Amino acid sequence: MDSINIGVIGTGWTGGIRANALAKSPYIEELHVAEINPERLAEIKAETNPASSTDQWEDLVKNDEIQAIVVSATPEATHYPMTKAALEAGKHVFVEKPISTTLEEADELIALAEANNLKFTVGYSQRFKPRFAYVNKVIKEKLAGEPVTCLVSRNVTRELGKKITGRSKLSPAAMEATHDLDFLLWCLQPRKPVKVYSQTSGKLFRQNSETPDHQWMMVTMDDGTTITVGAGWILPLGYPNYSQCWIEVVCTDGALTIDDTHKEVQLNTAEHGIRYPMSSMPGEPVDHVFAGPMQEETIHFVEAIVYDRPVMVKPAEARLVMDVYVAADMSDELGEPITLPRNDPR
Ligand SMILES: NC(=O)c1ccc[n+]([C@@H]2O[C@H](COP(=O)([O-])OP(=O)(O)OC[C@H]3O[C@@H](n4cnc5c(N)ncnc54)[C@H](O)[C@@H]3O)[C@@H](O)[C@H]2O)c1
Repeated sequence: MDSINIGVIGTGWTGGIRANALAKSPYIEELHVAEINPERLAEIKAETNPASSTDQWEDLVKNDEIQAIVVSATPEATHYPMTKAALEAGKHVFVEKPISTTLEEADELIALAEANNLKFTVGYSQRFKPRFAYVNKVIKEKLAGEPVTCLVSRNVTRELGKKITGRSKLSPAAMEATHDLDFLLWCLQPRKPVKVYSQTSGKLFRQNSETPDHQWMMVTMDDGTTITVGAGWILPLGYPNYSQCWIEVVCTDGALTIDDTHKEVQLNTAEHGIRYPMSSMPGEPVDHVFAGPMQEETIHFVEAIVYDRPVMVKPAEARLVMDVYVAADMSDELGEPITLPRNDPR
């Protein structure tokens, strides 16, 4: 197989990046898009010149000429029905995180993909950033010895926090720290999480809702390594969808520190003051290149289909991440640590 036909359901922020990446790829014969917002549909059609467009996502699932579907719609509850229908129709699926809203749904989707021998993966884009891949390399190749403790602290703007919390009640752990949990659980494989403790804090968003501003999680792995992951969504508006992240990996023979706060590029204008371009989690197009992980991640999925290669993010890994953040939310509610596995891990 040299090329495939692919459909993108939901062409907002992330779906728009993916549709544009696919439209430019030599692996894509036909791009099809489904979008319910008419203005956005018109924009994406002008950007990508798709073979077909519709406001009915089911049209893409019914189209026998389409081999793969990207599910990038919101709210997050759409992921399960759309992914299920696409897998049942025999299509390979890339779904944005979260894989689904419950573990039972995730299990059903994973079983469906396995039974139909389909590629199925989840959008944990941070694994495709070179500096994150480097952390994985340092840990896997023991370049600093055995890991003792790993920390990832991430904060995004309140603009993004409002967007995310406006469409679902999922916690900072489920919606934001999920990326960094996935990342550290991947780096630390084959270790497994055995205990989770979490706390939330809320002073800004809680003035008008029950939404916390920030959530910390501490996870203990089965060899004693500890993980600390924090996620917050109330930073001032430094740049549209700005995200800052700090990583510390302390090992028996060394330590690795990664500054992913994007302060290395500053644009200072009279109108806006200091801004940090190219600092959102998925990244953004800059002339002829793409600054960020999402374009490469999207094409990786297509290559997995065309060359019959394994996908980078296995759906069972996304399921484990969900198991951990569900336990974190439970821990925050109860005020005590939760032991894992709570149910049979895959
Ligand atoms: N990997 C990352 O770095 C990353 C970053 C941001 C968001 N995400 C995830 O990506 C997903 C999309 O987030 P977003 O910020 O792009 O959202 P968005 O709101 O910008 O875009 C979603 C789009 O889906 C469309 N849509 C909704 N229902 C639809 C339907 N039934 N049929 C067709 N289109 C429909 C909406 O009109 C909208 O244009 C979310 O699940 C989010 O968790 C991932």
